[in-house]
Amino acid sequence: MKSEVGTSLCRKQSLIEDARKEKEISELSASDPVAVTSEHPEDGGSTLNLIFTFRNSSASPLASSLKILEKHGAIIYHIETRPAGWFNKQEELDCFVKCFIHNSSICSLLSSLKKTAGDVKVAKDLTPPSFPRKVQDLDMCQHLNLRFEPNFDKDHPGFGDQEYKKRRAYFAELAFKYKDGNVIPRIEYTAEEVATWRQVYRSLSSLYPSYACKQYLDTFHQLEKYCGYSENSIPQLQDVSNFLKERTGFKLRPAAGLLSARDFLACLAFCVFPSTQYLRHPSSAMHSPEPDCCHELLGHIPMLADKDFAQFSQDIGLASLGASDEDIEKLSTLYWFTIEFGLCKQHGSIKAYGAGLLSSYGELLYALSNKPELKPFDPEVTAIQPYQDNSFQPVYFVSESFEDSKVKLRQYVVKMKKPFYLHYDPFTCSIEILDSFQKVRTALCQIKDELRSLCAALDKIC
Ligand SMILES: [Fe+2]
Repeated sequence: MKSEVGTSLCRKQSLIEDARKEKEISELSASDPVAVTSEHPEDGGSTLNLIFTFRNSSASPLASSLKILEKHGAIIYHIETRPAGWFNKQEELDCFVKCFIHNSSICSLLSSLKKTAGDVKVAKDLTPPSFPRKVQDLDMCQHLNLRFEPNFDKDHPGFGDQEYKKRRAYFAELAFKYKDGNVIPRIEYTAEEVATWRQVYRSLSSLYPSYACKQYLDTFHQLEKYCGYSENSIPQLQDVSNFLKERTGFKLRPAAGLLSARDFLACLAFCVFPSTQYLRHPSSAMHSPEPDCCHELLGHIPMLADKDFAQFSQDIGLASLGASDEDIEKLSTLYWFTIEFGLCKQHGSIKAYGAGLLSSYGELLYALSNKPELKPFDPEVTAIQPYQDNSFQPVYFVSESFEDSKVKLRQYVVKMKKPFYLHYDPFTCSIEILDSFQKVRTALCQIKDELRSLCAALDKIC
């Protein structure tokens, strides 16, 4: 695996494991009542959901509890009471309080409350995870997974190379400074970087005619014609972004490295693909422990110019907004076995469309040999498929077509437990939560207008 062209294991571990880690942290928090809060580090405080019971009718337990909350500086957002239970006496009440409190006061507050009320619990915050509402919010979705960076990973080929690290710091700064709407800075790549790109480009492009799907090949030729794809030049992200925008509405934004699963998937919801601009270390042109622009430009970009594939990518992103950690893990796994390692049927044979395959010489050959097991793409099965993190995948999933995969994914997403439905407005590149009759009506009217125009167009053709 170390000698192959591609992003190899890092990407695999990145999205899925990152999502899994977030879920584990969440589960750990659930076992510790004090930890089950929404933290606001910038305010030094947390939002608590408290539930407690007034066990007896002694003088004003509610007033006493409120005094305790006030004494601890809690800001109450919501309070309600109800009978403690069907079989309990009328005077026993459950009280629910949502409040904001400084972190240093939490233990003292809980201890004081326990003296006045019984069964004091800190319930899990049911508020769905916050998520970007408009494309500009993606400027804040830049949380990186640093495990595979040359500064942190001792096995990284650039770990001891100060010059390479300096170059990487330059790319990271460009990405962090970037704001939505800016022009992506053009890079003057060094001769050494172009030589690395050339080696990767030559190796992989020799395989594409036999192994890549038709959509990939069609776009790849266009990219050579219009975007400077050649073995002698590394395409500029802004040119590639303009190309994609014209074809599918997707655009690129520079990424400093590997983003967290939630941030990465959120970008897809807004038809934004975060792309690295740096090159892998020259000593290891055939292998990179992390994504680099060879992986993005050769693996991802050609497929993002296909409308069905682009929509499929956006659908995964939209499903991730406000999703639970458990669902983020499943969506990351779906992403992994489709957008990164997907195969599809085409004219009686099987071809590759996943970026991890199309940027990995060895795994591309392996995936289309008779060695691995191939299964039909089924989101219910794919979303829980265990993956290999130290060798090629033993199983790949085969799509009937992108249209078919899109339909199956949408059916799967509808079953996900989310407390709201979303509507993406392509005109404003923003997300609206459909939580009122009026909002649903407005969204329906937009669709109705679109349907009317399409029907009129159909009538004219017929
Ligand atoms: Fe990738």
